[in-house]
Amino acid sequence: TRPGPLAGRRIVITSGPTHEPIDPVRYIANRSSGKQGHAIAAAAAAAGATVVLVAGPVTIADPPGVMVVHVETAREMLAAVEAALPADVAVMAAAVADWRVASEADEKIKKGPAGAPALNLVENPDILATVGRHPTLRPRLVVGFAAETENLIANATAKLERKGADLIVANDVSPETGIMGGDRNTVRIVAREGIEDWPDLPKAAVADRIVALIADRLGRA
Ligand code: C5P
Repeated sequence: TRPGPLAGRRIVITSGPTHEPIDPVRYIANRSSGKQGHAIAAAAAAAGATVVLVAGPVTIADPPGVMVVHVETAREMLAAVEAALPADVAVMAAAVADWRVASEADEKIKKGPAGAPALNLVENPDILATVGRHPTLRPRLVVGFAAETENLIANATAKLERKGADLIVANDVSPETGIMGGDRNTVRIVAREGIEDWPDLPKAAVADRIVALIADRLGRA
């Protein structure tokens, strides 16, 4: 093991979007650059942790010193996360698509006189909730994200309970903030013990602070 505040710890992190195929050329996705999740993976590795990063389709590079599993869909992401357990910590930063089409078309859907196709959507598994409520392999510390455009704290607090998380990193992703796809982030840390407001920081600095918070929480045992 490498030295550092997370030496000997194993962390599984999700990052990026998922793509849910409609047909061989089309998909449903959420917006996500993967920058914040990848930065947390890099920071955790630099802090000495063994890091498994489960990454959806992103255009940024794999962080150094990290085991990266590349996936496309939410179901693949869940399977990769479950395969990476047991772990001390889970940080679920991916923007997972909430829905997928019930049955993916084998061939490209053609435009035609019948008009636009109706998409029959079904819900994807909730990876954070699966990990946070896992009966046998729940990590000691489970961290989720809440990207919201309104009612930030109320939504983040509800997520903490519903998904069995210990911490929610909440951020306002209204378009005017520039956070989505950008290099800076303004977050609030929502825990049962209370809420912390962090200043506007580069995503790498937010990642360092999240890793310090994780080390602190694990250390308190
Ligand atoms: O419910 P919502 O998508 O806003 O919750 C966000 C949090 O839940 C994030 O941590 C995200 O990674 C996680 N999530 C997940 N699987 C889903 C949906 C969200 O892990 N299907």
